[in-house]
Amino acid sequence: MSYPFQIRSFEEYQQKYKESVEAPEKFWADIAENFLWRKKWDKVLEWNFAEPKVEWFKGAKLNITENCIDRHLNTSGETPALIWEPNNPEERTRVVTYNRLHKRVCQVAQMLKNNGVKKGDRVCIYMGMVPELAYAVLGCARIGAIHSVIFGGFSAQSIADRLEDAHAEYIITCDGAFRGEKVIPLKDVIDDALIGNKTVKKVIVYTRTRNPISMIRGRDIWWEDEMHYAEEQVEKHGKAFFKAEEMDAEDPLFILYTSGSTGKPKGVVHTCAGYMIYTAYTFVNVFQYQPKQIFFCTADIGWITGHSYIVYGPLSAGATSLMFEGIPTWPDAGRFWDIVDKYKVDVLYTAPTAIRSLMGFGDEPLKGKDLSSLKVLGTVGEPINEEAWHWYDENIGKKKCPIVDTWWQTETGGILISNLAGVTSSKPSWATLPLPGIQPLLVDENGKEVTEKDEHGLLKGNLCIKAPWPAIIRTTYGDPERCRKNYFATYPNLYFSGDGALKDEQGNYRITGRVDDVLNVSGHRIGTAEVENAINMHSGVVESAVVGYPHSIKGQGIYSYVITNGMHGDADSTRKDIAQTVSRIIGPFAKPDKIQFVKGLPKTRSGKIMRRILRKIAEGETENLGDTTTLLDPGIVDEIKKGKV
Ligand code: PRX
Repeated sequence: MSYPFQIRSFEEYQQKYKESVEAPEKFWADIAENFLWRKKWDKVLEWNFAEPKVEWFKGAKLNITENCIDRHLNTSGETPALIWEPNNPEERTRVVTYNRLHKRVCQVAQMLKNNGVKKGDRVCIYMGMVPELAYAVLGCARIGAIHSVIFGGFSAQSIADRLEDAHAEYIITCDGAFRGEKVIPLKDVIDDALIGNKTVKKVIVYTRTRNPISMIRGRDIWWEDEMHYAEEQVEKHGKAFFKAEEMDAEDPLFILYTSGSTGKPKGVVHTCAGYMIYTAYTFVNVFQYQPKQIFFCTADIGWITGHSYIVYGPLSAGATSLMFEGIPTWPDAGRFWDIVDKYKVDVLYTAPTAIRSLMGFGDEPLKGKDLSSLKVLGTVGEPINEEAWHWYDENIGKKKCPIVDTWWQTETGGILISNLAGVTSSKPSWATLPLPGIQPLLVDENGKEVTEKDEHGLLKGNLCIKAPWPAIIRTTYGDPERCRKNYFATYPNLYFSGDGALKDEQGNYRITGRVDDVLNVSGHRIGTAEVENAINMHSGVVESAVVGYPHSIKGQGIYSYVITNGMHGDADSTRKDIAQTVSRIIGPFAKPDKIQFVKGLPKTRSGKIMRRILRKIAEGETENLGDTTTLLDPGIVDEIKKGKV
């Protein structure tokens, strides 16, 4: 398989970019010709950002799994689709060819059908990073069920909220997941999430860790039994077959919950055709993927990066995607480098947090590891600081691998701003240029385009996009108004990302971080309101305010100011109780790094918390706190400054 839409030179990039802006419909239709359709589209694009309404390839019929699997079988059936590296390096690895993946996905689809799952039903998937997670995702897509994968670090309460919001009727989970030395009891968490739940009919349990779990008659069933039964049904004449459901281009493919500035996560909805084309296009172009290369994305499939660049993007391009079950620091901090060496990885795509954390271990874990197979490196999820960028470049890429800094979001489905490896230039800590089809715009608070440069010749503003690309968010599940308000109402006729950015004279973009009340902790997106709600659930808490502060490894840490009406034991045990409460309500990754007890919060006369001041104090600023005269009680600021933890 070669990629007719792969851009090979800077001039070609410029040409394609121009075409994509001048005639977007023709541009994307030409790319779409490279995919497998049951029926072609009637219209390439219909849109307005006011409603919003975005429809790509309307009238077309397809199934994304035929594009990700079936169409590769004739030419590359024996090519590995997935290579799986287990948590424990002593355990046997698994290589899943396209033929094998086809069989497994057909089986899962049959298993789901046998259990009453139909097109449009919501299936929640809560599993560790095992190949069966990919089979489950693709099995849903094959029968047209809408998958909603929940990252294995979320708590029972978070799962319960998501199950309710999605009216999910089915769950696929594991008994447990291996993460380093730990076993995460996934099924126990699901059991807790299901207390009081009225919609879930069946829970399918894949055996991975074999820790004791409860199995409830009539509700809980074993994956292995069901798959065995399904195997007999799909195997005909030595070949597996399950006819893929015919989907409309704009039928929902999945829901993925993500945090915003309000307390409740939103279910971002992506649809079949546009998402498929965009993830394949960006995968091939950004990473300059060549057939037979080994692509290693270290994300978890529970986040958008895993959806787009472990599963759908690579597979729709017939690539080999490496999936890793464990963590970068177990059995030691050389684990990623062992994996690169063992499989001769060509492309490594990871998060700045991981790079910063591994950088902290020095050169030792790199000794004796052959990284010469690497050709392209990538980063995603948060701004990368120059120090980490250079470390990655020198120690991992040996200064011969282009680094792509890819900016995008759950809502964008795929990469929007990034250099194309080796084709367009990189610039440390800059995401650089927009991909073809992407028209960014920097605006001020009133939505006016920023035109005045600062003393360094840079434009600075809030990052918006002017026109839709195929993988843009379609709606927020069950609540379209939320989608409009969040992304399309701040500035009329623009998609607003929630990020701030700089632009240089060559047109490069540098993402400076969120400008709303969303934190980015170790590349995980968390709403401050969400953490505050969780802290406020603690019985001894009266009120709280959460802000981010710079953290050398996590990028941002969570700093919380808390008013209590009495502690149980000393301050330290109360801090731990509060952290535990957050862990129960959201998940361990959302625990505050710092908790400062305060008598009051800096509020304006109208009762609004002045977060700007709290942010500055958390960042260690003591002098220039800005105007505090509008505060109800300016004295509170000094008190908070004194008590900083
Ligand atoms: O703030 C930006 C940051 O991550 C946010 C999106 O988070 P999420 O939806 O969880 O998706 C993460 C993986 C795509 C953005 O609003 N972000 C993502 N990539 C970058 C980034 N910040 C700076 N540079 C990036 N390359």
